[in-house]
Amino acid sequence: MLNQRLEKELNKQLNRELFSSYLYMSMGAYFQSVDLLGFSNWMHIQAQEELSHAQKFYHFINERGGRVILESIEKPETDWDNTLNAFEDTLKHEKYITSSINDLVTAANEEKDYATQIFLQWFVTEQVEEEASVNEIINKLRLMKDAPGAIFMLDRELAQRQFNAPAEEA
Ligand code: FEO
Repeated sequence: MLNQRLEKELNKQLNRELFSSYLYMSMGAYFQSVDLLGFSNWMHIQAQEELSHAQKFYHFINERGGRVILESIEKPETDWDNTLNAFEDTLKHEKYITSSINDLVTAANEEKDYATQIFLQWFVTEQVEEEASVNEIINKLRLMKDAPGAIFMLDRELAQRQFNAPAEEA
C-alpha cells in the first residue's frame, strides 16, 4: 500500500508525464507548420512515449492501492525560433523530468517503499536514454548551422522513428 506522501508525489509525476506528452505534441504541431514533417514525426512519437510513461504511473498507483487524481495540464509553448531552439527546450524539459524522477527515488528511499524504488528504476534508465538521444540531435543541429540541405537530410532520418511500446513488465 502506498503511503500518502508517495501517492501524492506519484500523482504529480503522472501529471508531469502528461504535460510532457502535451509539450511534444505542441512541438510536433510547430514542426508541421514549418513543413518539417520528419521532425514532427519524431515529436509525435515522443508524445506517444510520454503518454505510455503516464500510463505506467497510472497503473502503478492503482496496483498499490492508491488513488489516481488527474489535475489540469499546463498549456505548453506553441512556437519556437527554429529547430535547434525546440530541441534545446526538449533537453531542458527532460533534465527537469530526470530531476523529478530522482526526487521520487529519494522519497521512496526515505519511506522505505521498495516496490516504488524498483518501479522507478525503469524511469532512471529511460531518462539516461532520453537525454542522450536529444543531445545527439542537438549536436547534429549545431554542426549543421541551419544549412537547408543538412536539415532536410536530418528531417528524412527523423521521419523513420517509430513507436515501440515499453515492455509490459517494465
Ligand atoms: Fe517521460 Fe521524457 O520522460
